[in-house]
Amino acid sequence: MKREDLLIKELNLQAHPEGGFYKETYRSEGVILEKHLPENFEGSRNYCTSIYFLLKTNEFSAFHRINQDENWYFHEGSSLTIHQISPDGIYTKTVLGSTILEGEVFQHTVPKNYWFGATVNQPDSYSLVGCTVSPGFDFKDFELANSKQLQKKFPDHKIIIEELTR
Ligand code: GUN
Repeated sequence: MKREDLLIKELNLQAHPEGGFYKETYRSEGVILEKHLPENFEGSRNYCTSIYFLLKTNEFSAFHRINQDENWYFHEGSSLTIHQISPDGIYTKTVLGSTILEGEVFQHTVPKNYWFGATVNQPDSYSLVGCTVSPGFDFKDFELANSKQLQKKFPDHKIIIEELTR
């Protein structure tokens, strides 16, 4: 069995709607009440959540956005590129990996409300990373991009948007 499929099995990862496979590994007991959260949150949220996230080569994490910052941590496998577009249309990419002398980073924060997706850098490989958000994750805060709408909003980034949407 390929190592990525072994990891999916051993870590009990499930398919994620953005692409790739994930499992929640932590959800804090503590809850932040809706009245203490910014207005765009509907309902209460746990303080914090963490997941494993595994992406295979030739797959992608599609452009999506959430209401809170997301911290990414490299675990193993190929380096992974995080592609992000800020709300005012600036595209940047960050390589999450372990070759820090060549500009890769072990950790990266995607700011809240940025559109972001990810791709694996090495052929025939995978990336295993961790993602943590606070307030804790809820699919109510998660929006997958509509390809045509995002291309219309950010025409300068049409090619990468076409690549990272379904
Ligand atoms: N739980 C389910 N999906 C996600 C996700 O995309 N990010 C984080 N941090 N937690 C999740």
